[in-house]
Amino acid sequence: MQDLIDEIAATLSTRTDRGAVADYIPELAKVDPDQFGIAIAMADGSLHLAGDAETPFSIQSVSKVFALALALGRVGDQLWRRVGREPSGQSFNSMLLLEREEGIPRNPFINAGALVTTDTYLAGSTPREALGHLLRFVRAAADDEAIHINQAVARSELETAHRNFALAHYLASFGNLQNGPDKVLGTYCHQCAIDMSCRQLALAGRFLIEGKGFPRLLTRERQRRINALMMTCGHYDGSGDFAFRVGLPGKSGVGGGILAIAPGRASIAVWSPGLNRYGNSSLGTEAMEILARRTGWSVF
Ligand code: DON
Repeated sequence: MQDLIDEIAATLSTRTDRGAVADYIPELAKVDPDQFGIAIAMADGSLHLAGDAETPFSIQSVSKVFALALALGRVGDQLWRRVGREPSGQSFNSMLLLEREEGIPRNPFINAGALVTTDTYLAGSTPREALGHLLRFVRAAADDEAIHINQAVARSELETAHRNFALAHYLASFGNLQNGPDKVLGTYCHQCAIDMSCRQLALAGRFLIEGKGFPRLLTRERQRRINALMMTCGHYDGSGDFAFRVGLPGKSGVGGGILAIAPGRASIAVWSPGLNRYGNSSLGTEAMEILARRTGWSVF
C-alpha cells in the first residue's frame, strides 16, 4: 500500500493541469495549488501517508459528514422530515430546487441541506456549545485533540456568504429553520472552517467503517446510511462521475479535500486544492480513481 500511494503522489506531482483553487472564499484563494497529500487508514489499524499528508487544509464541505452524524444523533430519523435523500443534479450552492420543493433541500450535503443539519445540531445550544460538540466528535473520531477551527477562514467565509444567507433566509421563509439565519450561518461557517491534514481526516473517517481499534461512534445501520448518501450525493452534480470513476462513497470540499470510504477496508483522505468544474478536487479525484483501480476497492 505504501508503494502504491508513493507512486500516486509521484505521478501526480508532475501534473500541471491542477484546476483552479476556490476564490469565492478570499482566504482559500491564498492557498498554493501546487500541493497534494494522501493518507489511508486501513481496517487492520495501519496508516499510510504520502505527499503533503501532514499539511492542514480547510475541510469545508467534508465537515457535512460529521455534521450529519451529529444531527442524526440528536434527532434520529426525524431529520428526514426536513431534508431529503436524493441527489440534486445541481451545484452545491444552488437555490433552484428549493423554491419548487417548498424549502425541503434534496440532501444533507448540498449547502441548503447542510444548513438544516447545522440548524438541527445547534438547537437548544449556543453556537460555541454546538461547535464544541462537533469538535469533540471529530477529535474522538480522529483520536487527535489538536484539530481546531481556523478563525480567519470562518470570518472570510462569513463576510462573503451572500448565497448561503439567501439559502438560509429562504429556508426560514418555509419554516425549515429553528434558529435565526445569522446564528445558523455563523455556526455553519465555523464548521466548514475546521482545518485538518490528510492524516487527521483519514483517521477521522474511521467512524464510518468497522475496524481494529476504530472508534465506535455510530451504529452499523447509520454507517451504512451515511455511506449511501456519500455515494449518491457526496460530490453534488459530480456524484455520478465520482461513482463511475472511483466507485466509493466520498465527500468533497472546496478546500480540495476528499474523504472516501472503502467499506470494511479503509478510510482514505486526499487533498489537492485545484478544483474541477463541479468544485471537487481535480487531482484528488484522479488519485482516488487510480487507487480504486489498482486495489480493486470499488464497491461495484
Ligand atoms: O458553503 C460553502 O460554500 C462552503 N463553506 C463549502 C462548500 C463546499 O465545500 C463545496 N464542496 N465542494
